[in-house]
Amino acid sequence: MSEWLLKGGRVIDPATERDEIADVHIADGVIAAIGKSLQGVGAELIDAQGAVIAPGFVDLHTHLREPGREDEETIASASAAAAAGGYTAICAMPNTDPVCDTSSVAEKVWALGRELGLVDVRVAGALSRGLEGAVMADIGEMARSAARVTMFTDDGHGVQDSLFARRTMEYLVAFDAIYAEHCEDAALAAGGQMNEGDRSAALGLRGIPAEAEELMAARDIALAKLTGCRLHLLHISTAGTVELVRRARAEGARITGEATPHHFTLTDAALETYDPLMKVNPPLRSDDDVAAVIRGLADGTIDAIATDHAPHAVEEKDQEFGYAPPGMLGLETAMALGITELVAAGHLDLPVLIELMSTRPARILGLDAQGSLEVGSAANVVVFDPVARWTVDASSLQSKSRNTPFHGREVTGRVMHTFFEGRPTVLDSKVLSEATT
Ligand code: DOR
Repeated sequence: MSEWLLKGGRVIDPATERDEIADVHIADGVIAAIGKSLQGVGAELIDAQGAVIAPGFVDLHTHLREPGREDEETIASASAAAAAGGYTAICAMPNTDPVCDTSSVAEKVWALGRELGLVDVRVAGALSRGLEGAVMADIGEMARSAARVTMFTDDGHGVQDSLFARRTMEYLVAFDAIYAEHCEDAALAAGGQMNEGDRSAALGLRGIPAEAEELMAARDIALAKLTGCRLHLLHISTAGTVELVRRARAEGARITGEATPHHFTLTDAALETYDPLMKVNPPLRSDDDVAAVIRGLADGTIDAIATDHAPHAVEEKDQEFGYAPPGMLGLETAMALGITELVAAGHLDLPVLIELMSTRPARILGLDAQGSLEVGSAANVVVFDPVARWTVDASSLQSKSRNTPFHGREVTGRVMHTFFEGRPTVLDSKVLSEATT
């Protein structure tokens, strides 16, 4: 196992409340030491002056597309994209083909991730068989499987049947597992293409009202209180949902929530070009919603930045707006958008961004080896230049798909190196296809 000495970076670790210029010594897969003027005899040296050294990022919401749509993304290409984006753990959504509603699919995805060794691939299991919202998936078996699934969701669909939601929450309590909801009332959202408001009226596209999200968020919060189940709200996109979480949290409910980079960066004004790359679910919202999501991230109401990385084939995205599937890539641009839109824009500080991208999502998933630079813990580390400017280029992404809405956008903040369990997966912004030992 190789040894590394990262010299003179700004070490930011929200878990241990460290924020100082120091060296980080990585040996035997763990953080061996952090301090001034460390001598790592025999260690490979990395000059980290001017850079930030932080715990690797943890994405709660990644669509891997394997099994089923390996033309769009594979566990290998998503792992490479994750490493390039500074991630050391990702959580795979279950809307694959077959759906991840059994322990055999969950274990297969988890094991393939481990074999690749670029990032810890955790798995979210489906709540219902086939994501149909009617019959419970093999939740207990997935929880007890080698994949040790702790988060369950029918992401892509909201659970419409309130009794099914209640019964599933009651069952999940036995495993202290998380019920994660894609909040969307199907009847209210039916046929919708974008956020409902002045802009959808002007563009002549059918809208999805904020209430489609907020009604289900309110229902789930009520059911989480009733059952005692842990609830996680996926891709929060409206001011009303942020407020619901804020209130429920103040009352002591066990609720967490995430927001995506596109929901804090883009508004529904982006739809004016009718560009299918701007189509996503939940849709890009109003200026007021975006401001509320940013406030929620800054004041801690929203726990995590999650990408909802959703690869789609060029031929499927590149068609008339109404026919294009919703979804955007996210893994390789999330940190830079966080720095550009949140930190540089003055909404929050770098340590808070790192908390939102690493420490808090790691805690939600219960990943002890992630989200911290504590000495003795697994060396899952990202080193990034917080001021480097670069232009997003869809053609140079690690992902197999190209559907980023940020192509051509100038952003600040670049991942330089990523270490997963003590081994570099990215060095000098280049992904090492075979993680070196
Ligand atoms: O835009 C989205 N795309 N939202 C989802 O919830 C699902 C995702 C996908 O799987 O493409």
